[in-house]
Amino acid sequence: MKILVVGSGGREHALCWAIGASPLCEALYCAPGNAGIAAEAECVPIAATDIDSLVGFARDRAIDFVVVGPEAPLVAGLVDRLQAVGIKAFGPSAAAAELEGSKGFMKDLCARHGVPTAAYQRFTDAAPAKAYIRERRAPIVVKADGLAAGKGVVVAATVEDAEAAVDAFMVDRIHGDAGGEVIVEECLIGPEISFFALVDGTHALPLASAQDYKRVGDGDSGPNTGGMGAVSPAPAMDAALQERIMAEIVSPIVVGLAAEGRPYQGVLFAGLILTEDGPKALEFNVRFGDPECQALLMRLKSDLLPALMAASDGVLKTFDVQWYDAASVCVVMASRGYPGPYEKGTVIGGLEAAAGSDGPVIFHAGTHRLEDGRIVADGGRVLGVTATGATIADARASAYGAIDRIDWPQGFCRQDIAQGL
Ligand code: AMP
Ligand code: GLY
Repeated sequence: MKILVVGSGGREHALCWAIGASPLCEALYCAPGNAGIAAEAECVPIAATDIDSLVGFARDRAIDFVVVGPEAPLVAGLVDRLQAVGIKAFGPSAAAAELEGSKGFMKDLCARHGVPTAAYQRFTDAAPAKAYIRERRAPIVVKADGLAAGKGVVVAATVEDAEAAVDAFMVDRIHGDAGGEVIVEECLIGPEISFFALVDGTHALPLASAQDYKRVGDGDSGPNTGGMGAVSPAPAMDAALQERIMAEIVSPIVVGLAAEGRPYQGVLFAGLILTEDGPKALEFNVRFGDPECQALLMRLKSDLLPALMAASDGVLKTFDVQWYDAASVCVVMASRGYPGPYEKGTVIGGLEAAAGSDGPVIFHAGTHRLEDGRIVADGGRVLGVTATGATIADARASAYGAIDRIDWPQGFCRQDIAQGL
């Protein structure tokens, strides 16, 4: 089969690494890819959001199956466009991707189908949003409705901070149209976990859990990022909790979307808080998490490709996947300055020695290969150093051991990923 993976981050490197290992995969392309992905796939210089060119490429090359990594092309309808020209794809339709594309849609869907989530209200004007904030008091959470690259959420410790967030989203439009509507919701307390399931329209197959580290600094300090590290499985996870998450959260969403004429196909990423009253849905994403995907896929024993195809073909009910009995840790290395301004083009050495032959895997995100073969940083999050081990502590030691062998003075990582777990 000829496969096209869409995207250019660490998640897509992990997807290419797993798909490229499948005996079913004869040719693997990635658009646009990165320097690490180039070792697994032929990189095609088409942006992940250039829907017309992606569809044209897939048709011209007779691609058999397209796997879409990021949310933006899904929300923009890439899968609908591919299916319209008879090309199979993994990922939800634009209608189903609204689950991530509109937080207000997600909240109302949860309300309609009895999925536990934080109490909330939607607002299209700043004044009533602020009045509601003053009535409910802090801590309180303000969210921009639309996609804001993970930056559209403010967990406000004071009423003033919450009101300022309303102004930033709705009046200053710091995230553009995404802030035309805001959701104000109750602040949930408890450990946060991510849970992933494959969905084929009507049936969901649980995959695995992860815990990610969103803030840039040790001890969860500093601003939010795309994710600085991940551990899988999440330490709080067990079989009973997984059953509860499937029954109370994943299944009602899958059944609800199908009943509303938006059947969901792809991977469903549930962001959850384990409150005293049980798991509650914070958000749903319509894609694998990054860097959760890197940690997850290193634990997967089964061939990934048939599982993704089973979701796309609607035959997950009779499908199962096997996992290694291992823990996995991904530590992200980023350019100094991230998530603020950072330097590009700094040279990264020691990558081959760091990985070794049978140990950690270094997934690339923002990297670029110079003509002389050197790898340079080309983005904020640059590498996802991922390792497995019998315990989380073993996996953590292996990942940080690899990081010690990487020679990149202009890079940094959190020192406390998976510490104490
Ligand atoms: P989201 O983009 O919805 O995942 O939100 C980003 C982060 O904000 C989440 O990972 C949580 O840590 C936090 N968050 C979002 N909603 C809530 C909430 N209702 N209560 C507490 N924390 C929240
Ligand atoms: N690491 C969080 C995300 O991918 O949304």
